[in-house]
Amino acid sequence: MDANALKKAAAEAALAYVEDDTIVGVGTGSTVNFFIDALASRRARITATVASSEASAKRLRDLRIPVRELNDTDGCEVYVDGADEVTEHLAMVKGGGGALTREKIVAQASRKFVCIADASKLVGVLGRFPLPVEVIPMARSFVARELVKVGGMPELRQGVATDNGNLILDVRGLTILDPVELETRINQIPGVVTNGLFARRPADVLLLATPEGVKTYKRPR
Ligand code: A5P
Repeated sequence: MDANALKKAAAEAALAYVEDDTIVGVGTGSTVNFFIDALASRRARITATVASSEASAKRLRDLRIPVRELNDTDGCEVYVDGADEVTEHLAMVKGGGGALTREKIVAQASRKFVCIADASKLVGVLGRFPLPVEVIPMARSFVARELVKVGGMPELRQGVATDNGNLILDVRGLTILDPVELETRINQIPGVVTNGLFARRPADVLLLATPEGVKTYKRPR
């Protein structure tokens, strides 16, 4: 099976977590695009969606799926999103598509987080994928120096402005043994808007598509 077939399988499995008459949080990325396409068949049964990026909002609207601002809701029943890396403990690195801040907000505002991914995203230890950090533009150099002190090698993502008008530093060279601690530490650097570690609020369910089928991992409660 090629990567797209696996992404589609994970995305379609997530429909089982979408309840009628609820608000559905929708992430960003190529795996989520398959979820959006599948969600079109449910458009009349859900109340609306909240999108984590302008790109996802556009794809949703193009398929006539209703989109609301997060401010106009009481949060989402479920949030469905992909990951760049995910562990069996359901901690993730996200932000390869640059939408990490809105993703973290909508994830936090949702009662259940369902991560959809193909098997290549499962890792034992986070950090091989460069950790995205969204920064206020005037703080770029300062934050980069602070990230070096944390042990990383930050690099400005060229030619990218986020939906919030900020920059992204991609941090290589981190072996993330304690993702909750590192997420908290990087959040303390003035000028950091968000970092791509999703460990303080991990996923509740991981739907991991493998050639043998979609495996379900659940976070212990
Ligand atoms: C977007 O900013 C990211 O967090 C995505 O969720 C992540 O990059 C996964 O994207 P793909 O599904 O395209 O691999």
